[in-house]
Amino acid sequence: MQYGSIDRPYVVPDTTFQPQVMLPQKYVKWLSTQPKSVLSSEAVRIERNGVKYLPTSLDPESSLLFIDKIVGQSLSQGLDLIQPDMYDEIRHTVDSTLGTDVCSWRVIDLSQAMSTIIDGTGNRVLFGLSLCRNVTYLRVLRLFIIFMGASTLLIGQLPPWVLRPVAGALLSIPTLIFKKLSVSYVQPLVKERMQSVNVDDNDQGSSSRKSHDFVTQSIKSAKKFRKSIEGDVSMYLAEQFLILAFAGMATTVAAATNVCLDILSASPRIKLYETLRLEAVSVFKSEADWMSPASIKNLPNTDSTIRESLRKNTLQSRGLLKKVMPKEGILLPDGTHVPQGTWLGVPVQAMQQDEKLYPQAYEYDPLRFTRLQITMNTEEAGSKDDPSAGKNLFDAAQPSDKYLSFSYGRSAW
Ligand code: HEM
Repeated sequence: MQYGSIDRPYVVPDTTFQPQVMLPQKYVKWLSTQPKSVLSSEAVRIERNGVKYLPTSLDPESSLLFIDKIVGQSLSQGLDLIQPDMYDEIRHTVDSTLGTDVCSWRVIDLSQAMSTIIDGTGNRVLFGLSLCRNVTYLRVLRLFIIFMGASTLLIGQLPPWVLRPVAGALLSIPTLIFKKLSVSYVQPLVKERMQSVNVDDNDQGSSSRKSHDFVTQSIKSAKKFRKSIEGDVSMYLAEQFLILAFAGMATTVAAATNVCLDILSASPRIKLYETLRLEAVSVFKSEADWMSPASIKNLPNTDSTIRESLRKNTLQSRGLLKKVMPKEGILLPDGTHVPQGTWLGVPVQAMQQDEKLYPQAYEYDPLRFTRLQITMNTEEAGSKDDPSAGKNLFDAAQPSDKYLSFSYGRSAW
């Protein structure tokens, strides 16, 4: 951190013995805009997630196609269509997990409760009502997520020689079993949705409009890229959806647990809980407000609180990792030579706790981003030519070169 905060690159040790160089914040934009023939994040992902040792038949290129073309279109553009179902499921899972009795106290395992709420809601968004309330499937999927998570984390931390293949072989057995079991639930659903999308295409009927879940939308997007998908399309999509569920749910459970703990342990002096409750009451006045995409855009204090939690409790300590590809190595913007094979990255955790970027960085200041947004809006009020004017730059998930909780650039999530 001492080198990063004086704007200098530095070498960090790693349990894998992989040479890694952390870059200062001023190089984030440079790092994220280098072509993949120079700096490759795919090469790092394959090594770091132990892809070679895991039971996935998906090659990284086809996963990238899925993420870029299909997920990008279906999840981001179709979010408005998914919102009513999402709220319905949040309400259902919150009520059944936390209870509706407001008179008596009950002990709750917060992380377990968040896992139940997010697994239910995530599966409703991805697969619709039939799977999200199927208790056996949810159990099997959770076990897949746990083993897949443990495998990628552990394998990625081990030296690549003897230990990695041995751990890979042992962990891939339960991962494969739970993946196959999860696929046995998801693939029939994918096939059924593929058929109904085809029927709708042929008779221009209205039945697909009833199903807005992510699978249906992805199938519509995937049809445009059919030529690029080889083999059994339903198997390809089922496997991709499971990897997406794995990538999305474990991170969201961890982030949501941290957000709740931060809110509940905030100093009573700042009346955070009361402020957030008042904001929610002023926005969600009727049932229709819960369904409206406009509502969530009017919660600046809630956005700021989530963003502050993610700033303070980053899920990754190092991010934006990329491997140097050219044989001759590369030169950093300050002229430092870095040899081929080295990983370059950014110390996300240290950066987001740097006093130069965030005054009183070690303090939990939930409304920090609301204040920044107000200042920025005031400064921009006169500058009509500024393309960022009026945009909510501090939405909880809006990446910037100082806020990498959802990564940055092409791989931002
Ligand atoms: C608060 C919740 C979340 C956080 C903090 C988060 C954070 C991140 C970060 C930091 C990365 C980059 C990882 C890397 O360096 O390799 C990432 C990648 C990814 N995330 Fe999330 N994520 C969240 C929720 C989700 C959700 C809900 C989904 C989808 C349902 C999702 C899907 C993905 C995917 C597919 C990638 C890989 C992107 C790529 O490789 O280009 N994430 N996420």
